[in-house]
Amino acid sequence: MDSSIPVFEPASPQADAIYHLFLWVILISGVIFLIVGGLIVVAIYRFRARENETPQAVYGDDRREMRWLVGPTIVVLWLVAISAKFVLTYNAVPKVDPPGDTVADLVVTGHQWWWEVHYVGASVIGANEVHIPTNKRLRVKVSSADVIHCFWVPQLARKIDVIPGRDNYIWLEAHKPGAYQGRCAEYCGTQHAWMNFKVYAHAADDYERWLTQQKEVPSSPPSTHELAVAGKAFFLTATCIECHTIEGTPAHATIGPNLTHFELRKEIGGGRIANSPESLALWLKNPQALKPGCKMPNFKLTGRQIDQLVAYLYPENSK
Ligand code: CUA
Repeated sequence: MDSSIPVFEPASPQADAIYHLFLWVILISGVIFLIVGGLIVVAIYRFRARENETPQAVYGDDRREMRWLVGPTIVVLWLVAISAKFVLTYNAVPKVDPPGDTVADLVVTGHQWWWEVHYVGASVIGANEVHIPTNKRLRVKVSSADVIHCFWVPQLARKIDVIPGRDNYIWLEAHKPGAYQGRCAEYCGTQHAWMNFKVYAHAADDYERWLTQQKEVPSSPPSTHELAVAGKAFFLTATCIECHTIEGTPAHATIGPNLTHFELRKEIGGGRIANSPESLALWLKNPQALKPGCKMPNFKLTGRQIDQLVAYLYPENSK
């Protein structure tokens, strides 16, 4: 993980605007702080207690009072104006056209404690990764499957609350390819801390390639790969099928993350560990050890069952 502070490296017009608003507010506040702090220091020194001296009291200086009133008012109004300009432009809720239309390019659903990502036009569903083409403004609908979450990618956009029973919209775009860290920014239970995701911004053709790959219905493991074949059979007869979906199989439950093309994801468990056959084995052995309180119970799978599931979920291993 790099140590840079993401809000200082905006990568979208919206984040740029937030960054500049932030700089202006800090600058103005800093100047006011120095003036007020400086005057206090001067006053402390100049009017410090001296022997046998009573400070002179001043009453009713209208002009000075007026200056103290008008000056700060102008500063506050100016701050309000630049904030309002931001809210009404970059931050505006994407316009609905025609009114009542609920079309979105992406639908992101918060779950305890992971994110479901639906690529609307392509009927692709992923988890904890949001893939977008660069330089394209996408309308994202955020909703919740359970409690209040908050969708936040500091380098790309403002925060947007994810509220059960209510659809919120936000713009998402990136002006250069990259992986942008996202987080749940609203405390939502035990594993709030591991409700991370990443936005992967790709150049247009890379994005198309990614999408094509995702749209492919995964093929069944070849009969020669007994371990993977057994893994698939186990997946479809064990509890896995009660919560997960894998396209091209009868598994179509939506309680847990969709596992279609799971092998292509970078992380497991809302950013808890990097995705690899070893990590998955560790996860399957006892999800509660890695992410205590998560909705996937410890099924006390045997080593053999874990090997089978891992072989099934990493098709490249079967070649
Ligand atoms: Cu979801 Cu915090």
